[in-house]
Amino acid sequence: MANIAKIFASRTQSMLQAAARQPQVATRFSRSASTAGNWEFIKTDITGEKKNVGVITLNRPKALNALCNGLMKEISIALQQFSKDKNIAAIVLTGSEKAFAAGADIKEMLPNTYSQCIQGNFLNDWVEVARTQKPIIAAVNGYALGGGCELAMMCDIIYAGDKAKFGQPEIALGTIPGAGGTQRLTRVVGKSKAMEMCLTGNMISAQEAEKLGLASKVVPADQLLAEAIKLAEKIGTHSSLIVQLCKESVNTAYETTLQEGLKFERRTFHATFSTADRKEGMTAFAEKRPANFTNE
Ligand code: CAA
Repeated sequence: MANIAKIFASRTQSMLQAAARQPQVATRFSRSASTAGNWEFIKTDITGEKKNVGVITLNRPKALNALCNGLMKEISIALQQFSKDKNIAAIVLTGSEKAFAAGADIKEMLPNTYSQCIQGNFLNDWVEVARTQKPIIAAVNGYALGGGCELAMMCDIIYAGDKAKFGQPEIALGTIPGAGGTQRLTRVVGKSKAMEMCLTGNMISAQEAEKLGLASKVVPADQLLAEAIKLAEKIGTHSSLIVQLCKESVNTAYETTLQEGLKFERRTFHATFSTADRKEGMTAFAEKRPANFTNE
């Protein structure tokens, strides 16, 4: 009980910290980046039959969607906007047919010094993706390399086009992955494969990524976005309140011991019994009718 209380307390504290950060983020970005619909490095769209799917498309084709600071800031702002929008049930993050993203922007970071990285907390803007409470589906066509692979892994589900390629080639640049490549990849594919990928820089195919559990589905490249949107719409048929709790519980598996994770899951399961949507879901089943969730 003490441990579970600790997990809840630390979750609550990080949620409060995230909330406290919001106004600063908005102020910090307001001069350098765009407001909705007026982006430099991305495109955003709201789609799906119920208009409940937010789509963020990386849009820096000449640099294969290299993740420059401006692009990552725009992704953060777009995610915050979709997070605040009650009509958005899930988000799809995608790139172009040639590249989801070819990594952090090598030319931009080339002059960085160690002290600049430390003092500027380089890559800190990227954490917004993993912090988002709504489900994010990465729809990966083409290259997902370095930070591109890490960005996809920060999302909740990866769908891959059949020509997608994943890799952590930082080693060839004289550096190492810096946004989760040695950590998230290892947890997903295991030590041997992660070590092989990080130490050689070799890419793996979409089919291998699926085999390893990195991607949950491979589809023909031209159907990728439609399939990812369909998946987001399916998630959107459920209670967004319960979806959020479920996402948090799955993510807890990556952040704690099995015993603590199981306790967190059990308590979260119990907590669903305080919601109107749990009651509605079970009543609808018993009455043989579709559930009408109110997200409460
Ligand atoms: N940063 C900056 N620019 C990049 C880039 C990157 N990561 N990847 C590609 N580009 C640019 C190229 O410089 C080129 O620009 P110019 O036309 O102005 O020269 C343009 O995109 C097209 O690239 P290529 O001509 O190289 O295209 P290609 O089809 O021959 O090769 C590729 C494609 C194999 C993806 C190759 O571009 C490549 O190896 N890119 C770098 C991949 C990489 O090392 N990623 C890791 C970055 S470090 C990192 O991400 C750190 C971290 O953990 C956060």
